[in-house]
Amino acid sequence: MNLEPHILKLKGQLDPRRFYHSLGVMQTAVCLALRHGIPTEPAAVGGLLHDCARCLNKSQQYERLMEWDVPFPDPDGQYRTVWHAWLSPEYARREYRIQEPEVLEAIRYHTTGAPGMSPLAEVIFVADCIDPTRNYPDVEALRRLARQDLRAAVRECLIMKRDHVEDRGQRLHPDATQALSAYGANCSIEVTFGIHRS
Ligand SMILES: [Fe+2]
Ligand SMILES: [Fe+2]
Repeated sequence: MNLEPHILKLKGQLDPRRFYHSLGVMQTAVCLALRHGIPTEPAAVGGLLHDCARCLNKSQQYERLMEWDVPFPDPDGQYRTVWHAWLSPEYARREYRIQEPEVLEAIRYHTTGAPGMSPLAEVIFVADCIDPTRNYPDVEALRRLARQDLRAAVRECLIMKRDHVEDRGQRLHPDATQALSAYGANCSIEVTFGIHRS
């Protein structure tokens, strides 16, 4: 698949920071896919387009979710940061002609994770947390872990997101809560992998 038209279109739609993040997630997803024996093309497409609906502001996202009748499990509007993850698969399908269900599913769960994610969805979920534009204290340890053990990296990313949400006094989305349980987030690996949590 020639991704150049998609890259150019995305460049015209996203702000520069989000565009370079999307390129970084694409690159990271391909590297992780190669490392873990997963097809690279869906990883590249999913990584590139995972945030494609972020070209819309929140009210536009809401309007489009309603207009396109996208499943939208947020009656109180308390998970606004997840709206783009629910909308991006439909945006990718309509605007970028992406049809593969596994790619669309990986995009859908890139923010929250979910129990029983496919290896492709795990790759996109982790790549979103560790792409080269990310810069937080534990990111290098998490990059090493992602190369060694993909599921352990999913678990660490989920824990990191939970801590971040709780620090901000917000609620974790139920998909993420269920994913935390499914990926065994009660089993600490910080000693083994040297990942520090405050
Ligand atoms: Fe996102
Ligand atoms: Fe992202």
